[in-house]
Amino acid sequence: MKSEWCLLSYIGLIMATEHHDFAANQIVSFRDNHSHPVGILTTSAGKMVNYEEAESTLNKRLILNEFFMDTYTKFNRERIPTRVVHAKGAGAFGYFEVTHDLNDICKAKVFNKVGKQTPVAVRFSPILQERGGIDTSRDPRGFAIKFYTEDGNFDIVGLNMPVFIVQDPLFFPAFVHSRKKNPQTNLNDSNMFWDFVVRRPKSIYNTLYTFSDVGISDGYRHMPGFSIHTYQVVNSKGAKFFVRFTFTPDEGVKSLDSQTAQTLAAVDPDYATRDLFNAISAGNFPSWTAYVQVLSLYDIQSADFDVFDVTKNLPVEKYPLRPLGRLVLNQNQVNYFAEIEQLAFCPDNLVPGILGAPDKLFEARRFGYRDAQNYRLGRNYDNIIVNKPIVETWTYTRDGRAPVKYNQWNVPNYYPNSYNGPVPFKEDHNVEVIEIFEGPGDDFCQPREYYLYALTSAERTRLINNIVASLVTVTDPILKERSIDILKAVNLDLGVRVFEGLVANQTKYYEY
Ligand code: HEM
Ligand SMILES: *[C@@H]1O[C@H](CO)[C@@H](O)[C@H](O)[C@H]1NC(C)=O
Ligand SMILES: *[C@@H]1O[C@H](CO)[C@@H](O)[C@H](O)[C@H]1NC(C)=O
Ligand SMILES: *[C@@H]1O[C@H](CO)[C@@H](O)[C@H](O)[C@H]1NC(C)=O
Repeated sequence: MKSEWCLLSYIGLIMATEHHDFAANQIVSFRDNHSHPVGILTTSAGKMVNYEEAESTLNKRLILNEFFMDTYTKFNRERIPTRVVHAKGAGAFGYFEVTHDLNDICKAKVFNKVGKQTPVAVRFSPILQERGGIDTSRDPRGFAIKFYTEDGNFDIVGLNMPVFIVQDPLFFPAFVHSRKKNPQTNLNDSNMFWDFVVRRPKSIYNTLYTFSDVGISDGYRHMPGFSIHTYQVVNSKGAKFFVRFTFTPDEGVKSLDSQTAQTLAAVDPDYATRDLFNAISAGNFPSWTAYVQVLSLYDIQSADFDVFDVTKNLPVEKYPLRPLGRLVLNQNQVNYFAEIEQLAFCPDNLVPGILGAPDKLFEARRFGYRDAQNYRLGRNYDNIIVNKPIVETWTYTRDGRAPVKYNQWNVPNYYPNSYNGPVPFKEDHNVEVIEIFEGPGDDFCQPREYYLYALTSAERTRLINNIVASLVTVTDPILKERSIDILKAVNLDLGVRVFEGLVANQTKYYEY
């Protein structure tokens, strides 16, 4: 008897420890944690549902079945608009810990004390994939961090590449359209893709990144993050400084080659989502070391390029990385829709001491994300639990679609008033964002240096192969020529090798 029991429990142990895939075993784990049903089934209004209602509607009047009515009217409205970009993503929660304070240049409380921990929400997301798309596409990836600070939310809404695609915000919708679906075929379209690159050559630097190894990150845990924008910060004396944030994965940067990525896309389209969830479930918490590159007013004036241009990198040799802290993700969401889909990041979520960036793209983003979330989540999206700051909010905004929470109780609803409604505070050394002039700049200098010096020769070869693989699908011969011209303008060797790759691939590469 006893040995039988031992054997059974031994088998039980094997079965139990076999599940390293926490994501796959989630629902079983739920039952393991709940020995009984969690409660009596109710309608959304709280009425207990009986077996007759729950088991069948046949030969009964539907309208009297409140379980049916509740289920049907709710089910048809489960969907909300997806994000227009970055629709697919995975996220997690954790904390940011300051390892080196920023007090000499920035008065923001979030960075003012070594050892200070601030809770964070993070979401990672390929730009162009739809909500049900693949995790292993060749695409820049979003790296968005919400710091729930004691001064309200501070969001860094960045990418896994240090440069953006366009400098002028006017061109962003065109970029997105050119990389998403063709209006007739509803397929992504290489002619559209390369036509945008050719017509907006500033995008070539980001395009090179996208076709290089970092264009397909190996999951999200091995992906760096960049604020891209150069933020203006002020210290407690009101002195102005400028910073770019960088987050380097402690387990190293890893990428997937095109072949592996394509295989994975077929086998597990949610590869990166699964990897992140399982790593955190296993207690293998991903972490990043955070740095800032610091510039003075003198530095920005004396730089030989526009340090606010988001299509340009700030070379670390010239603007060294200064350590700031550590980002740790140690908690998965409990409910994906509530906590990750409803996350609303906005570059304009700033705190005293961090003023945002002076470039026009940032200015456009201050507006764009608010507008997107008003539409996607409704104008009270700030009241959704994951978006609520940890500090009390006192606003004069009221009413609108739910969730209104307590709707600011009975507090006066207009400003100014004589009846002790909320009042503004007086900021010491109030400073505004500087105004800058944004010139055209040199579009090819940094991409050339990247091609020549940042990549190893094997990396260059893979970059060329990846570009060739894309350009062979371009059917417009003139566009092919122009694309090669752009690549030649970056570097002759790059253009020639891509050309040779195309010729080798397509003997029918006519008229060139
Ligand atoms: C430096 C340039 C930019 C970077 C690094 C960037 C990055 C991101 C990231 C990471 C997200 C995903 C946020 C999330 O996980 O929920 C996002 C979403 C979005 N971005 Fe950008 N973006 C940039 C420029 C722009 C511009 C110029 C626009 C134009 C308005 C724009 C419009 C949007 C919109 C509408 C969303 C979806 C927001 C939502 O529905 O919640 N982005 N962006
Ligand atoms: C079950 O409980 C364990 C221990 O608290 C926890 O780690 C796990 O996430 C729980 N599983 C589910 C599905 O809630
Ligand atoms: C566009 O389609 C090609 C196949 O034609 C595919 O390789 C590529 O990953 C797609 N791009 C995106 C962003 O889905
Ligand atoms: C040419 O390109 C096609 C489409 O990308 C690819 O399937 C084929 O393997 C390539 N051939 C050579 C010789 O590179």
